[in-house]
Amino acid sequence: MRGCGTVQEILDQLEAKRRAARQGGGERRIQAQHRRGKLTARERIELLLDPGSFEEVDMFVEHRCTDFGMDAQRIPGDGVVCGQGTINGRLVFVFSQDFTVFGGSLSEAHAEKICKVMDRALRVGAPVIGINDSGGARIQEGIASLAGYAEVFQRNVLASGVIPQISLVMGPCAGGAVYSPAMTDFIFMVRGTSYMFVTGPDVVKTVTNEEVSHEELGGAATHTERSGVADLAFDNDVQALHEVRRFFDFLPLNNREPPPERPSFDDPEREEPSLDSLVPADPNKPYDMKELVTKVVDEGDFFELQPDYARNIIIGFGRIEGRTVGVVANQPMVLAGCLDIAASIKAARFVRFCDCFNIPILTFVDVPGFLPGTAQEYGGIIKHGAKLLFAYAEATVPKVTVITRKAYGGAYDVMSSKHLRGDVNYAWPTAEIAVMGPKGAVEIVFRAEKDDPERIRAREREYRERFANPFVAARRGYVDDIIMPHGTRRRIARSLRWLRTKQLANPWKKHSNIPL
Ligand code: HXC
Repeated sequence: MRGCGTVQEILDQLEAKRRAARQGGGERRIQAQHRRGKLTARERIELLLDPGSFEEVDMFVEHRCTDFGMDAQRIPGDGVVCGQGTINGRLVFVFSQDFTVFGGSLSEAHAEKICKVMDRALRVGAPVIGINDSGGARIQEGIASLAGYAEVFQRNVLASGVIPQISLVMGPCAGGAVYSPAMTDFIFMVRGTSYMFVTGPDVVKTVTNEEVSHEELGGAATHTERSGVADLAFDNDVQALHEVRRFFDFLPLNNREPPPERPSFDDPEREEPSLDSLVPADPNKPYDMKELVTKVVDEGDFFELQPDYARNIIIGFGRIEGRTVGVVANQPMVLAGCLDIAASIKAARFVRFCDCFNIPILTFVDVPGFLPGTAQEYGGIIKHGAKLLFAYAEATVPKVTVITRKAYGGAYDVMSSKHLRGDVNYAWPTAEIAVMGPKGAVEIVFRAEKDDPERIRAREREYRERFANPFVAARRGYVDDIIMPHGTRRRIARSLRWLRTKQLANPWKKHSNIPL
């Protein structure tokens, strides 16, 4: 016999509490969630993790608020499902906000639960995936809720660069709440059901008199095409969760581990004869750089990030010999592959992620320079372009670079050049490595001859023969070799193989001061 009831009574109570926790906000609200095309917090975890791997923590945690009649409304779990499990056998910590419980709003207790999984993840060195679906701060709790957010933010920052952090935004995420996902490494959204903004449409209307819908202001299209806040948008919850599983396989568990190695059946020596005709004879004609990327990586499996933002640069993960590589590539199809503000920021952040997590960086270069114009200069291209330069220069992971065509001016230096400690720098025979293109160069150097088109054409020819080729750079060792396009995969694979044991460290410092 026990003082507070029989064991059977405790077990009954336990079962009742578990049932209540699993029911969240109740059948009516679960159905409303489904009607919107959204899964529940638990259904999402089930799809995200390996079957049967989820271990829940803090299922019985309840809020402690007594104001506004809250003491009469307590739901075990308090609006967030937390724990750990595996994705394809590898450990991951998760929290999934339950919109059916007080709109997924964040109470003090809710925040403590999130902090607990983040602390555990950091302690053991495993990634965190956060599923966001929340009305923001629990209004009834006031400042205790704000404190809870700040506790989460602090952990986001301490975990940054130590364990990968991924945010799935699958419902509302507004106000200061957006800053937790914003400080994680990757944000994925769902079209039509998720939105993120600092101030919502009503406040926008009051302050600026602009009429804008939730979707226009902060929907998935806005953040993957205009703002660059989110990395990818998916059509529904199921697709998003499925793709995050695939994405997770590219990432190491923490900053002390190498990237995962998966069995690859793609011969590293594979040749791609079609690449020999990828670059058109006319240097002003574009071609699709993605073709090169997919033909080089294992099994053509390239996980592109931010495909609809700053499309003049391509970023994403692939594998060579089963090991993850981060790919950065200029895209001649968009703005001729120029670097602009958006592209520089996009690629810089990606390079820094790779460097944090020991992922080698593979760079394909076809860049005519920085994008000219007042919009760029007034927007601060000097500072933002410097971000990419800084990121490449600071990176100590293996860096392999292939110049396919243009590598002009400052942009040549920036794009993982030999001078920024590029380990292996290759050029295709079509490469033109020079201070600028022949036309621009001749216009400046031979300005006096500008009224004689015949002479100008001859000067351009002379310049092209003299500078617009890979030999000048190769003579100085700025490129290690001039390689045939069809052998690109083989040469990259061999380079990355010998670079596996690369050791390089930057001077001790508290942290650097990247131009933000
Ligand atoms: C407590 C909340 C809540 C909140 C929603 N609910 N948001 N409860 N605190 N922040 C509850 C509702 O009362 C309702 O309860 C249920 O969740 C579903 O909400 P609905 O309004 O019915 O749903 P919907 O029409 O889909 O609208 C969703 C919504 C809206 C757009 C998120 O609820 C909303 O605007 N909520 C307030 C958002 C907000 O202003 N949050 C504070 C922002 S400030 P019942 O019982 O009826 O089901 C902030 C600061 C963070 O977050 C600072 C960090 C530094």
